[in-house]
Amino acid sequence: MFGKCKDLLGIRFLPACEITEILEQAEYFKRTVLLTDSKKTNVLSGKNVNILFYENSTRTRTSFEMAAKIMGASVCCTAASSSSVKKGESLVDTVKTLDSMGPDIIIIRHGMSGAVNLAAEAASASVINAGDGMCEHPTQALLDAFTIKEVKGTLSGLKVAIVGDIAFSRVARSNIWLLRKMGAEVFVSGPSTLIPPFIEDMGAVSVRSVREAVTGADVVIALRIQVERQKDCFFPSLHEYASFFGLNDEVFSYADKEAVLLHPGPVNRGVELTSSLADSCRSCINLQITNGVAVRMAVMQKALIRG
Ligand code: CP
Repeated sequence: MFGKCKDLLGIRFLPACEITEILEQAEYFKRTVLLTDSKKTNVLSGKNVNILFYENSTRTRTSFEMAAKIMGASVCCTAASSSSVKKGESLVDTVKTLDSMGPDIIIIRHGMSGAVNLAAEAASASVINAGDGMCEHPTQALLDAFTIKEVKGTLSGLKVAIVGDIAFSRVARSNIWLLRKMGAEVFVSGPSTLIPPFIEDMGAVSVRSVREAVTGADVVIALRIQVERQKDCFFPSLHEYASFFGLNDEVFSYADKEAVLLHPGPVNRGVELTSSLADSCRSCINLQITNGVAVRMAVMQKALIRG
């Protein structure tokens, strides 16, 4: 259970104590399962997990599947692009169809913000949000927090800079909700057209210059431009975006000398981030992907604790 809910739809309404619980359980799974030779546990033995994706994914879809299989669950993957969605079946009917087969957990990614709420109402299974439109990507924020805590020892009191397309980013929203709940300071920066006015109501500080956001930061999170969600032109060209808002070694030098770099992926090298920085010793990008499996194990286990 997540709060009083069978579903994990976002970080916004998830209590801080449950975030701590998930991070601790993920640390336990990483240490006692993933870092051992067998890499197996039977925590989800006899359980069925259905993965329903309406949008492309490499990291999230694969790590949920790996996590479920490592825990002994049976896994079915449904890609909307090759399903009866293409024959006109609605989201609710598709979810009810899959739910009728008796899965314990349905993991959903959808391009529409709020689609997961509709799915959760339609399903008796526990629904886990794997990214809905520009709303939330809770397991990404949890794995980012896990990674930060692993390398920094804490979340509380850190300065975190989130740079790039804030307006269309579900990762930014989930991260801001989580980091603020856990006592971190969050600064955001990017083109003014991509910084929504309500972002300060979420507890983030919006600054015009990327250097100002990065100065003294313990953690810098670079974001991809969500071109798939942008119908208008929000900056003149990718070249100009990279010149003014891209992260490189020079901009990163303003951060704390022990600062680390995160990016949810996929990275558009040379746009939001140079290859030199993405591949540097400061980069935690590959560690984030590794930690995604442990965090998704912890989330699925928690989903099955009812009552
Ligand atoms: N970070 C993330 O959601 O990546 P994918 O789109 O590859 O799942």
